[in-house]
Amino acid sequence: MKTLPDFPWDLLAPYKDQAQQHPDGIVDLSIGTPVDPTPQLVRRALAEAADAPGYPATYGTPALREAAAGWLARRLGVAADPAAILPVIGTKELVAWLPTLLGAGAGDTVAIPGLAYPTYDVGARLAGATSLAVDGLLGLGPQTPKILWINSPSNPTGQVLPAEHLRKVVGWARERGVILISDECYAELGWEAEPVSVLRSDICGDDHTGLLAVHSLSKRSNLAGYRAGFVAGDPTLVKELLEIRKHAGMIMPAPVQAAMTVALEDDEHVEEQRARYARRRESLRTAFEAHGFRVDHSEGGLYLWLTRDEPCWDTVKTLSELGILVAPGEFYGARGARHVRAAFTATDERVAAAVARLAG
Ligand SMILES: Cc1ncc(COP(=O)(O)O)c(C=O)c1O
Repeated sequence: MKTLPDFPWDLLAPYKDQAQQHPDGIVDLSIGTPVDPTPQLVRRALAEAADAPGYPATYGTPALREAAAGWLARRLGVAADPAAILPVIGTKELVAWLPTLLGAGAGDTVAIPGLAYPTYDVGARLAGATSLAVDGLLGLGPQTPKILWINSPSNPTGQVLPAEHLRKVVGWARERGVILISDECYAELGWEAEPVSVLRSDICGDDHTGLLAVHSLSKRSNLAGYRAGFVAGDPTLVKELLEIRKHAGMIMPAPVQAAMTVALEDDEHVEEQRARYARRRESLRTAFEAHGFRVDHSEGGLYLWLTRDEPCWDTVKTLSELGILVAPGEFYGARGARHVRAAFTATDERVAAAVARLAG
């Protein structure tokens, strides 16, 4: 336990208490958890698969892997072999264990984005490796990490990495034999830029060697409670992951496999959800800007990356007094010290409340 960081959310508790004192209740924009219903067709698939006495396959059903490959082709323009796809029990689990599963350990470096989802660092620590937060490849200097994480659209900044940049990163990783892992869990949530998968042939030249892309259904399909995601890419690496995960019992439950298959085959519910988020994003963006905030990046994903050019905790405090809770940028890296992250995963009613308070 000594190797794990303190859980920073405890530091936010006093501001949550403050925000909860608002007579019309708290508007909690501090966490990116979906709040809209899980689509009916997905719930039905889960229920219909409820009779599941036998052990499911760690590799997933062939139908699930076909559905994931179909989704990658249809939505992201990626040609992936269903054999090189592996379901995971939500991607947080994979992010936390991937360095360990890939054999990273003491003496290895895991490079993570300078502003990042905290679980990349946790994964390096669980493996006994060293994590190194870097902004761009230059930040690495002469070091060769074992693993390099990228995340586009980014949590927390919403930055979308352009195709040209991804091509450079792939080339850099290949020259050095570095495993490049691309967390693409917000891939269908681009607003002002098109998120690009690292597995697309114009990025990696139709060769997935040394590459893994991580995908989650939590946000696209309001499925965070089911724990559903998958990893795709280098067939040899995926096979290695499969072997260890089989031994370790890291198996997605059969009813969730069935539900995930149906979710991946349907895009209509994703368009509906995107429209909800687009509206909420626009309302909050306009309201924060009118209140004196600058919105940086935020081209994709589920967050507004906001600043008033002051220390993040001052912003957290001021907003908590309006009954609005946001996450301090410091939680994601030192460079976030003057930003806050506001998720637009609140209900229409709560978003309207925030907009009214910011205007008041
Ligand atoms: C960048 C990033 N990766 C992975 C995850 C994990 O998502 P899940 O475990 O729901 O698939 C999250 C969750 O917010 C995230 O922001």
